[in-house]
This record gives sequence, C-alpha cells and structure tokens, in this order.
Amino acid sequence: MKQMKKNGQGKAFPYNIFLIGFMGSGKSTISKYMKKTYGMEVAEMDQLIEQRENLSISEIFRIHGEEYFRSLETNLLVEIQKRTNTVVSCGGGVPMRACNVREMKKNGRVVLLTASPETILERVKNSHDRPLLEDHKDVDYISELMEKRREKYEEAADVKIETDQKDMQTICEEIIKKLQELDQV
Ligand code: S3P
Repeated sequence: MKQMKKNGQGKAFPYNIFLIGFMGSGKSTISKYMKKTYGMEVAEMDQLIEQRENLSISEIFRIHGEEYFRSLETNLLVEIQKRTNTVVSCGGGVPMRACNVREMKKNGRVVLLTASPETILERVKNSHDRPLLEDHKDVDYISELMEKRREKYEEAADVKIETDQKDMQTICEEIIKKLQELDQV
C-alpha cells in the first residue's frame, strides 16, 4: 500500500477492489475515479456482460430471465480472478449469492458503498437501464429492496463507506484510508 502511485505506474493495491452496493450507490462513478486518480484497471461488470451478450441488461432480463443474468455475473467473477490491480464495479445483486462473495474474497477486498433511499432515487430516476427499478422509482420500493439486501451486503463487506452528500474525492480517500487500516491489522 505504501507504494501507491497516482500516475498509473506500479501497483496501487496488491489485490482487486470489489465495489458493491445498491443500484445508484456510486460504484461505476467511483471506479472511474479510481482509474483516473490511482491508475487502477476497471472492470465494469454490467458493461462487460452487455458487450459479451450483445444485449442491454434490460434485454437480457426480458429475453433470458434474471437467473440467466445472475449466472453470467457468477461466471464473470470467476474470470476476473485472473486480473490484478483492478477495481471491479459489481452489479447491485452480486453479493446476494454466497458463491459470488467467496469468489470476490479470494483475491480481493470488498467495499460496500451506501446511500439513503432518497439519494438513490435522485441518482437513478432518469435512467432506464435497471429492470428491477423500472416501474418502481419511489422511495418506499427502494427502501424495501434495500432492507431485504442489507444483511447480505454487510456480511460481504470488508469496509463500508457512506456516500450521501460526499464528493468523489472524499469517498475515494475514505476507501483508501479504510483499506490501508485493514491491511495494517
Ligand atoms: C441489479 C443492479 C444493476 C444490474 C441489474 C441488476 C441488482 O447494476 O446488474 O440491473 O440486482 O441490483 P447496478 O447496481 O450497477 O445498477
């Protein structure tokens, strides 16, 4: 960790960082920022799945069903093990499968990003690429689904970062500080 560099040279982290959290918790945005600032590689799971299937996430859900999509996620996680120095932006449902959590922990640290249902709604309200929220863009529905997932999210997490009302730099610095603290234990 001490050798972390901002210029893309060298290894920022001796493991992969898996960003987990509810839809709209900021995983994609933060992973892009980590790439820019710390020269890490990025694996954006939803985007990789879309490219490989040549379908959008919504189309995959509609044509093949959710279970098919969940298996694509699990297979991709296994493949990602071959990478290093990568920040992985996981789909929001990834921690719901125990096998996915085991896979992430093999060569990675798991960082949970959280935000209030109100913040989540604000961030997702204008997008149409999340089939699970498409007809449910309201605080009650988001709160309920978040509550159903909370335990699994928290069990999977090595560190937890609240993102409400924080800018990207603050969030990234918190991630790095908490990971460093973890490494020193
Ligand atoms: C999902 C989250 C989405 C995407 C899919 C299912 C979920 O990713 O994988 O729509 O179950 O929470 P984001 O968390 O990146 O929006």
